[in-house]
Amino acid sequence: MKVLMVCLGNICRSPLAEGILKEKIKAKKLNWTVDSAGTGSWHVGDRPDSRSVAVAAAHGLDITGQRGRQIKPADLENYDLIFAMDSTNYQHILLLANSDAQREKVQLVMNMEKPGYNQSVPDPYYGDDGFEEVYQMLDRACTAIVEKYGE
Ligand code: 4NP
Repeated sequence: MKVLMVCLGNICRSPLAEGILKEKIKAKKLNWTVDSAGTGSWHVGDRPDSRSVAVAAAHGLDITGQRGRQIKPADLENYDLIFAMDSTNYQHILLLANSDAQREKVQLVMNMEKPGYNQSVPDPYYGDDGFEEVYQMLDRACTAIVEKYGE
């Protein structure tokens, strides 16, 4: 299974999602590929936001090795599951898809926990207190991902 986590900047939410899912697949000894990307290009090459690094560290995860990258059309071909953090990311990812098979790979990540609710992971970039909440939401979603796809 190849899984791509996608947000806007690839420095706050999707790096946390990548780090959390990697930890869970390691614990389950699943041989998956997990990466993350942003729909925007402002933070290509950047380290994750220091606030995401801090909340990850508080939960025992080191995400400092990650670097920002922008999603590209080939990702829709190469990955099996593509998870959008919010509805705007979701729409932008779909613009890159060129077949129904590619479109079917794209889901809102929180629908893994609560199917059909179409809940978004709030963008924590412009506030300082949203990061723990983002972590908790993504932890629940990633638990659901390994339960559903990790056999
Ligand atoms: P992310 O958060 O999409 O969770 O990585 C953001 C990071 C940067 C910006 C917006 C959101 N920005 O506008 O630079």
